[in-house]
Formats: sequence, structure tokens, C-alpha cells
Amino acid sequence: MKKIFLIGFMGCGKSTISAYMREHLHLSVIDTDKYIEKKYDMEIKDIFSTYGEKTFRDYETNSIDEVSDYEVISTGGGIVEREINIKKMKNFGVLVYLHTPFTEIVNRLKNDKTRPLWNNDLITDMEKLYQRRSKMYEAYSDVIVDTHNRNVNEIAEEIIASIKKA
Ligand code: S3P
Repeated sequence: MKKIFLIGFMGCGKSTISAYMREHLHLSVIDTDKYIEKKYDMEIKDIFSTYGEKTFRDYETNSIDEVSDYEVISTGGGIVEREINIKKMKNFGVLVYLHTPFTEIVNRLKNDKTRPLWNNDLITDMEKLYQRRSKMYEAYSDVIVDTHNRNVNEIAEEIIASIKKA
């Protein structure tokens, strides 16, 4: 089976779905953010505040090669910001975009303090980022899966079925 890179906006369910795939489909799964946190022994928000976003993006780009042995790779929402990341991911496998409506993202992230680029007080800016990124996820993905009002198991099964065709 091709390696699966889960892409999509913050809060779209990448981590939840990949955890389901690990537990129920017995696939080897890794999350690039968690990998980076472990490697540098720092939380993402502290990497941003101490070294800045550029350093985080460099860590993120490097992480793609380092996690490429896994079957399912859950990525950070900003991984699409660098073209080199897309090339690397496509070289290893297929890109699956988890599409979630903005209103649902807002609802899920309303108490989130862990994501440095998410700010509940700047919803207009958040929506602009969502719109800009959505175009990138759509353009770069091999498969698009809708997560709205669906169970995790349904989403996971659809991903597996669709990548067999991709
Ligand atoms: C980011 C998304 C985060 C994390 C970092 C930057 C982004 O991951 O990589 O805070 O630029 O959208 P999640 O998509 O898992 O929240």
C-alpha cells in the first residue's frame, strides 16, 4: 500500500483519524508535529516563540524524510506552505486532504492554546488563512475526503478504499 500523508487545516481531524488507523487498522502511524516535539524536546508553541516560524518550517521539511518509513503520516496544517514539502511527500506516497468546514474548525479550536497560528480573537484572519490554504490542499491532494458529520471509522475506511484507486 502507498504511504498516506494526511493533510488539512488545523483541527480537521488528522490526529484523530491517524490514531484510529493505528488502533483499529494496525497501520504504523506518525504525526510530524509530535515527531518534531520529541526530537527537539520542545512543544511546537515554544519552538515558534523561541526560534520563530522559519525554524519550525525547516524542522518540518526535514521531518518528511525522517518519518517516511511509516504507513500513515499525519502532518501539520502548514506543511503545504513549501513546495519542496509537496515534492517530498508525493515522492513517498499519496496526499489525502481531510476537508472540514471552517465553522466546525472554529468550534473545535475555540479553547485551543497549543497552536501558535490559531487565534480565536482574529476570526476574520483565521478564515482568510483557511481559504488560502484550502486552495492549496485541493490543488495538491490526490484524494479529498469530507469529514463533516461523519464517524472516524467511516472516514478511515474511505481513505483506505480511495488510496487503493489513487
Ligand atoms: C500549523 C499547524 C499545526 C502545527 C503548527 C503550525 C499551521 O498542526 O504544525 O502549529 O501552520 O497550520 P495541526 O494542523 O496539527 O494543528
